[in-house]
Amino acid sequence: MVSYKELGLVNTREMFAKAVKGGYAIPAFNFNTMEQMQAIVQAAVETKSPVIMQVSKGARKYANPTILRYMAQGAVEYAKELGCEKPEIVLHLDHGDSFETCKSCIDSGFSSVMIDGSSLPYEENIAVTKKVVEYAHQFDVTVEAELGVLAGVEDEVAAEESHYTKPEEVIDFSTRTGCDSLAISIGTSHGAYKFKPEQCTRDPETGLLIPPPLAFDVLEAVEKKLPGFPIVLHGSSSVPQEYVKIINTHGGKLPDAVGIPEEQLRKAAKSAVCKINIDSDSRLAMTAAIRLHFAEHPEHFDPRQYLTPARDEMKKLYIHKIVNVLGSDGKLG
Ligand code: G3H
Ligand code: 13P
Ligand code: ZN
Repeated sequence: MVSYKELGLVNTREMFAKAVKGGYAIPAFNFNTMEQMQAIVQAAVETKSPVIMQVSKGARKYANPTILRYMAQGAVEYAKELGCEKPEIVLHLDHGDSFETCKSCIDSGFSSVMIDGSSLPYEENIAVTKKVVEYAHQFDVTVEAELGVLAGVEDEVAAEESHYTKPEEVIDFSTRTGCDSLAISIGTSHGAYKFKPEQCTRDPETGLLIPPPLAFDVLEAVEKKLPGFPIVLHGSSSVPQEYVKIINTHGGKLPDAVGIPEEQLRKAAKSAVCKINIDSDSRLAMTAAIRLHFAEHPEHFDPRQYLTPARDEMKKLYIHKIVNVLGSDGKLG
């Protein structure tokens, strides 16, 4: 058993309470590689922002759970080396699919876990979430749960269609499970294709897709039921069209990729939404930088040559999200 406290990590409790009160959101960036981890830490330190580093079950499979845990421990030390005396870094399990996965993360140093029972019948979601909460709270680990279904593919939890969260269920669910935060479904979804072209309108000048707005009425109804309770938004990449364009003009193929407009996320961050999940945008930043690099330097084959601009681009993206979208800059300590 390794406690996250020994690793210098923190849980989400205080961080979320401050974010809800202050009208901003904590960035939750997924990572699978060392370059993503370095870029996240550099961005968080430079902007003086708390940060959630999250790993999916797939990331654990890709990178190895032990390596990821040491990377998170390394992230804390790296932040200190970069001049941040007291970094606030959470190591979070994204979309935990079972009690066993959550337990294994808690036992190996995670400070926060998500149990995603959103695809289960309501009572089963409550039962598994409650079981995880009871285990996690013994070690002061915080738990995120999910009500409502997001479309898109997540490792083990996949859904064809989204179903908005039912506001009438949230009091019963949060009271009976004891969860610390709740991910809700208001129209976001995972990946780089959040809406089908037929759900969007097209900008007559640029030809770019304009997605339908998020269901802010559902968010407001949830907030009314649970005043001040920490709400989480998954699937919150904006799919920057400049990256899509670079990718598509340098050998890639991402037709009609579309995300959530940043002004809608800014609006959400000012509400009880205190954690915003971003993964796809980092993948796009990395891919665009690498494709561009290879087009300009076909003779390069040292990974450091193309991973350096990729890391720099991700750092730029993370700083932009923190400062211009989530508003968590300067909120450390
Ligand atoms: O919600 C899903 C995250 O973007 C993680 O994606 O399961 O492919 O690692 P992944
Ligand atoms: P995106 O695919 O929109 O980046 O969402 C990531 C996410 O929700 C991780 O849990
Ligand atoms: Zn997610």
